[in-house]
Amino acid sequence: MFKRVTESNQCEFFSSIDDARTYAEKAKKSMMRYKAFLANLRSLDIKGRYREIGAGPGVLTVEIARNYPEVEITALELLPDMVTVGRKHVAENKLENRITYVIGDVEDERSYHSLGEFDLVYSTYSLHHWANTDKAVANLYRAVKKGGMLYIYDLRRVWWLYWIPIKNGFFNSIRASYVHNEIKLLLRELGIDNTEIKNEFPFMHSIFIKK
Ligand SMILES: C[S@@+](CC[C@H](N)C(=O)[O-])C[C@H]1O[C@@H](n2cnc3c(N)ncnc32)[C@H](O)[C@@H]1O
Repeated sequence: MFKRVTESNQCEFFSSIDDARTYAEKAKKSMMRYKAFLANLRSLDIKGRYREIGAGPGVLTVEIARNYPEVEITALELLPDMVTVGRKHVAENKLENRITYVIGDVEDERSYHSLGEFDLVYSTYSLHHWANTDKAVANLYRAVKKGGMLYIYDLRRVWWLYWIPIKNGFFNSIRASYVHNEIKLLLRELGIDNTEIKNEFPFMHSIFIKK
């Protein structure tokens, strides 16, 4: 019952530009979903070049660029509709000089060579979508500068949600997300150490990987 259910990890909820716009509007109205991530980012205090993975419509990307006027962000996103909505949001906030959207797949290592290395590589609410997570995480780690950080923030599979009689897209996302031991095993198999995993209330977690 508590097994990870991976049929639900694809991007079926974002299949049109309207879906991308709807996601963007919801995200703007509930910035609470980024609260723990933003608080951790403040504590990390990393300067320089950031790379965001699975940036979606860029609501968090713009928030970060506003909070940290010195950073430049390259935002990688798989779905062209999300990129269209994201680029518009970036332009409306006059941040085109500091946020660059790139269409690409986290699992495709070719996209990493051309973009170089980053002081911070981060991702929010995207990990549970990735089909080849080991390949994706290896790519992300490779994109971090020596001394930099990979920070993955995502949903966490919690047992108690299985007792709530709601089966919607969000529930499916929870079922597709990981528990700590799965992440630890994956990182160990990739030979990645220097990691810390922290629970975030109510059903998220932060995965910090120092290079
Ligand atoms: C739930 S949204 C999160 C968007 C944004 N990060 C946020 O926190 O609001 C997940 C995003 O990850 C993107 N994504 C899924 N698989 C991906 C992949 N393999 N490579 C790049 N982006 C991916 C999806 O297209 C989608 O925009």
